[in-house]
Amino acid sequence: MQAHIVTTPGDGIGPEVVAQGVRILNRVAAKFGHQFTFTEALLGGCAIDALGTPLPAETLADCEKADAILLGAVGGPKWDDPTAPVRPEQGLLGLRKRFDLFANLRPVKIYDALRSQAPLRPELLQGVDILFVRELTGDVYFGARREQGSGTDAYDTMIYTVDEVRRAAVVAFEAARGRRKKLASVDKANVLASMRLWRRAVNEVAADFPDVQLEHVLVDACAMHLIRNPARFDVVLAGNMFGDILTDEASVLAGSLGMLPSASLNQSAFGLYEPIHGSAPDIAGQDKANPIATILSVAMLLRYSLKLEAEAQAIEAAVQAALDSGARTADIAESGAPALGTQAMTDRILHFLG
Ligand code: IPM
Ligand code: MG
Repeated sequence: MQAHIVTTPGDGIGPEVVAQGVRILNRVAAKFGHQFTFTEALLGGCAIDALGTPLPAETLADCEKADAILLGAVGGPKWDDPTAPVRPEQGLLGLRKRFDLFANLRPVKIYDALRSQAPLRPELLQGVDILFVRELTGDVYFGARREQGSGTDAYDTMIYTVDEVRRAAVVAFEAARGRRKKLASVDKANVLASMRLWRRAVNEVAADFPDVQLEHVLVDACAMHLIRNPARFDVVLAGNMFGDILTDEASVLAGSLGMLPSASLNQSAFGLYEPIHGSAPDIAGQDKANPIATILSVAMLLRYSLKLEAEAQAIEAAVQAALDSGARTADIAESGAPALGTQAMTDRILHFLG
């Protein structure tokens, strides 16, 4: 098949890890007889530096012509001034909104080889396999806001429409149907009006999925259960902000943020794929970053946007084999043990990809 992929490496370690993702895609193309072409576009802090805006019109135009987007990370201390008129994160939020990427899939899988790396007792991690479905284009991220300016207050608005909740819920129920048939919907319905609407809308969708067992979990309790008994969860559905927070928390279960991929999809399965970690400016440019989150994001790209399931599985198997063979980057190595760099880890994965 032919596919065109726009890469937006972004800031910090973004360019290093995206380069590894492209190496993997090129190998998949050669091995399975596909033709992938790439265009690199500016996004985030590097775009602010070059063109004064985190989401340049050229980048949008490139993405409009693409079959999928592979993103590294955006942001860093250089652009962190809270009074700055533009911020790198606006580039990412702008892309999500422009392409209506409302369904953010964040799988949390525990590799046996890394079980001893997580701060949780290994027995608590037995059987943990969670898929987070985070709503990505609504909530307090996009509600009406007022900056402080010269005044003494500022606000953001948590807002959801029934349709926004419903379409995210449908994605979550369908995913649960293909898995262990359990869905936990996260809200704060005991306090917030927008979250009471959330719960009602999820209940309405539930009527179409009688085979899926639904529970409503308050976000504070969910944060606790994720640490006390993470194996109880199958699919977890959450709004934009709660999903942001809970997925960082859940990443600890996997041993490192550097392991977790994500897909952000719209109704037509067009998607943006990115590691869930940030730009890690402290290790940028040092060949230290773990490329696995990006490489697993590439697998999701093949699965969801290009419908190349066998290719996606081949990448996942190669990652598993590399880990089983003892390959470790610094973030997942036993303390003091030798660690591979970004490129060497990818070499190992390519070796097993064949
Ligand atoms: C994420 C990130 C983003 C978010 C930031 C970079 C805007 O934390 O993708 O989880 O808050 O959604
Ligand atoms: Mg986040």
